[in-house]
Amino acid sequence: MRNLFFGAFCLLSLSLSAQNKAAQDAEMNRFIDNLMSKMTLDEKLGQLNLPSAGDITTGQAKSSDIAGKIKNGLVGGLFNIKGVDKIREVQRVAVEESRLKIPLIFGMDVIHGYETGFPIPLGLAATWDMQAIERSARIAAIEASADGIFWTFSPMVDVSRDPRWGRVSEGNGEDPFLGGQIAKAMIKGYQGDNTYSDNKHIMACVKHYALYGAAEAGRDYNTTDMSRMRMFNEYMYPYKAAVEAGVGSVMASFNEVDGVPATANKWLMDDVLRKQWGFDGFVVTDYTGISEMIDHGIGDLQEVSARALKAGIDMDMVSEGLLSTLPKSLKEGKVNQADIDKACRRILEAKYKLGLFKDPYKFMDSKRAKTEIYTPQNLAEARKIAAESYVLLKNANNTLPLKKQGTVAVVGPLAKSAVNMAGTWSVAVPLDKAPTVVQSITDALGKNGKVIYAKGSNLVADAKLEEHATMFGRSLGRDNRTKEELLKEALDAAKQSDVIVAALGESSEFSGESSSRTNLNIPDVQQELLAELLKTGKPVVLVLFAGRPMTLSWEQANVPAILNVWFGGSMAAPAIADVLFGDANPSGKLPATFPQNVGQIPLFYNHKNTGRPLGEGKWFEKFRSNYLDVSNEPLYPFGYGLSYTQFSYSDITLSSANLNENGEITASVTVTNTGKVEGKEVVQLYIRDIVGSVTRPVKELKGFEKISLKAGESKTVSFKISPELLKFYNYDLQYVFEPGDFDVMIGGDSKDVKTARFTLN
Ligand code: BGC
Repeated sequence: MRNLFFGAFCLLSLSLSAQNKAAQDAEMNRFIDNLMSKMTLDEKLGQLNLPSAGDITTGQAKSSDIAGKIKNGLVGGLFNIKGVDKIREVQRVAVEESRLKIPLIFGMDVIHGYETGFPIPLGLAATWDMQAIERSARIAAIEASADGIFWTFSPMVDVSRDPRWGRVSEGNGEDPFLGGQIAKAMIKGYQGDNTYSDNKHIMACVKHYALYGAAEAGRDYNTTDMSRMRMFNEYMYPYKAAVEAGVGSVMASFNEVDGVPATANKWLMDDVLRKQWGFDGFVVTDYTGISEMIDHGIGDLQEVSARALKAGIDMDMVSEGLLSTLPKSLKEGKVNQADIDKACRRILEAKYKLGLFKDPYKFMDSKRAKTEIYTPQNLAEARKIAAESYVLLKNANNTLPLKKQGTVAVVGPLAKSAVNMAGTWSVAVPLDKAPTVVQSITDALGKNGKVIYAKGSNLVADAKLEEHATMFGRSLGRDNRTKEELLKEALDAAKQSDVIVAALGESSEFSGESSSRTNLNIPDVQQELLAELLKTGKPVVLVLFAGRPMTLSWEQANVPAILNVWFGGSMAAPAIADVLFGDANPSGKLPATFPQNVGQIPLFYNHKNTGRPLGEGKWFEKFRSNYLDVSNEPLYPFGYGLSYTQFSYSDITLSSANLNENGEITASVTVTNTGKVEGKEVVQLYIRDIVGSVTRPVKELKGFEKISLKAGESKTVSFKISPELLKFYNYDLQYVFEPGDFDVMIGGDSKDVKTARFTLN
């Protein structure tokens, strides 16, 4: 009876909130109808125009070309402008000096934190901690909104299996399921309940729709081409998850999809995004996404702008193609008024939902800017999350954690750099404020020990390459000493020390946009330095900075301890010290496979079996799918990462070996911390569909849980498995499950798993 009442109550409140929403929508529509009835064609097109502010200043806002356009109602929003007072002034021009007083929307790439920098997204993904990721986005939203920014071009959820592509650093790695969970966590952190009822939640923009991470040969902006089945089963899930989470906007990608650039791809924008998935926000192009279609070869600016609008693009970032060419296209009948109105309406709806028509200065409270940004609390949170993102790749003979005593040689071109710690896409982070590795290790040792620093080598032998990899104020100060001189200084430091910490790897702009690489080794001179340090016979800890999976076969064979620290943000270095000295126990797990060498790429865990799979545990078999010169194995598999303690897994217990169409079973394991210290473990659930109407991957991640266990403690982790979890897109692109046998695998990474079998009836 009670349940009945409760059910009725829920239904009633659901229908009340649906009524509420309908009433609110009606009010919004009335408001927008009225506003649009007053708008000229140019004013409507102005709403679709998103120029980059560049280095607009308060003065310029009054006098620059952009300011003029704002006054004439020819700008819908601005991005790349920092500082609440500047933004307020620009907004004032819009709402006081333009005819219809329509407020602007202000965006920025707040990708992994605003001023308080969090780990790069690939690092955040390595935490596998959805609450932590949500908190990082929450803090980013609070800081950004305190400084006048209320629209972020994040989350970036492009699945990528190609670490040559520099932008793997900006995404969540190779797995669609993990990427989808992260997309939801980030959107929740930015948008909260999606009502923007206060001034501390900002609009997210999921990007880059779609398939940008599958650029051929890992070369940025390159062509993508794949079957629809692969698209829907392996690449689309995170974008769809973002739409389900209520993301307010979507950014189209630079690449083509099925021979049509995403920006003009009607099937992508309209059929899939809006009709299939029900997306009701607005779509913005990527930077010059419209004008780039001239080079793609599908028409001149007028043609590509018309195609973009027709495909479902609502806002034009930087190209000014919509603004400048649509009047002509309208006259010539290439677009119609309804296409323009639809796009204009979507931008106005976003502004309405954000509350800008009620208060255009809602996000422009300079008092907040003084007290809510880069606070000690936010930095403390960033430090915790950074430590959680680090992945311990190797730890022979318990080299780590180090004792807080003795002399530590801290060596390497990244050891004393503040500006490189935050990683790529940290536009608002005050780079020079980040502590360096040298400083944080010195702080951690206190009076009990000392640090000797030596640079040891430049970033890379080729000065030109170093210049390309240290842009945007991230210079490492190229050292003019010879390689031998640098090395000698490092070896002198090493000889006087008890342990060597080598801070090596990539600089922050070695990955990120337009930073593809064909060689994923630690760069030449750094690797030589590492080899020389090892020859001293002192214990060496490699602290590896990386914006992507790197090739570390030599390091794995030769270096006793490797801690992969990605780029950890503002508090990267204190977090490195926390982990090195055992104040934090590493718990990161790889969100992407680390290959043995570049020739294996793309190498990913959820591959197909082929008709000629290599025998289990085999290196090479003639006429099987393999290489002559290297095994099929990754160096470190997806999901891998060590801890200062160890975990053992029981066999899997299934609540039943039979799953019915409308039923649910649970798969449980008991995980025990068998080591001496408390630690966190990411328990991962994989499933394999043994026989399908189409071929299915050898395993797919379907669940995970991060648990904390005291030394000696055990916990049982249970995953629910319903037919819904077993669905996939079949040959006809229907989302279905198929009866038959399934393997369920649970373990601490994608290789080391326990297995059980059940049947779906
Ligand atoms: C990038 C986007 C970014 C945009 C705006 C583009 O170059 O591809 O990810 O959001 O610039 O800065």
